[in-house]
Amino acid sequence: MSNILRIDASVRQARSLTRMMSDLFLKKWRETGSIPNVIRRDVGLNPPPAISEDWVAAAFTPLEQRSPEQCALLKTSDGFIEEVEQADIILIATPMYNYGMPAALKAWVDQVVRVGKTFTFDLARGDRPLEPIFSGKTLVLLTASGEFGFGRGELNEGADHLVPHLRTISKYLGADDIHHVGIEYQEFGDHRFDGSKADAIREVEHLARDLVEGRSDSSYRMSAPASAATKSLHATILGVARS
Ligand SMILES: Cc1cc2nc3c(=O)[nH]c(=O)nc-3n(C[C@H](O)[C@H](O)[C@H](O)COP(=O)(O)O)c2cc1C
Repeated sequence: MSNILRIDASVRQARSLTRMMSDLFLKKWRETGSIPNVIRRDVGLNPPPAISEDWVAAAFTPLEQRSPEQCALLKTSDGFIEEVEQADIILIATPMYNYGMPAALKAWVDQVVRVGKTFTFDLARGDRPLEPIFSGKTLVLLTASGEFGFGRGELNEGADHLVPHLRTISKYLGADDIHHVGIEYQEFGDHRFDGSKADAIREVEHLARDLVEGRSDSSYRMSAPASAATKSLHATILGVARS
């Protein structure tokens, strides 16, 4: 049985495109007859606390030297990391807010990416002292944005600080492959939005089926968008940069 950690980050409940996509992903998964064990972490509705100076001090204090107060301060983080550790698939459904991730999702990331728990730090490794601890997981990234055209040579090139950021973070979640489906044009509400949404729905359905059937490797690769109508679709496997 697959363990799926579902994280929703939209503050909207009604009419949320990203929640619609994460619901659909799980519905299609279950329709195959495979019943996943789903852990739900709704950071949009229940934003995690921001980390603090005391939190950082606690995280860097060796376990055996931590005070009860420091242990208590790390409890939320411990719980979140346990959820990540148990997951085979991490499903993150997130809007673009101000060209990046919602603050609540960033707060979750800050609670999860932690020395000694999700990465080790060793200066003996030279200029790359950080090394992820987890591996072998799949990240499914479902996004929505009001604007469009964040790809190379497009209108808003360079303005997407959501997907690249999560891609960088993914290695500390232990994700070896990433699948991304995004809806664009939400703010325009025109035929381009309708097309983008329809494309994304189809891709989410395919993705769920492919992952159940174990086609989660590089054989599931979409060709680059060919026309303006399909530009909104970036259902692409993003190879995780590992160097
Ligand atoms: C606070 C806020 C900030 C937003 N910032 C951006 C943005 O910088 N770029 C963009 O393309 N869309 C932006 N949007 C539009 C959302 O990404 C879009 O409405 C998306 O569909 C929201 O996800 P949801 O439907 O799951 O709630 C913003 C929306 C909100 C509410």
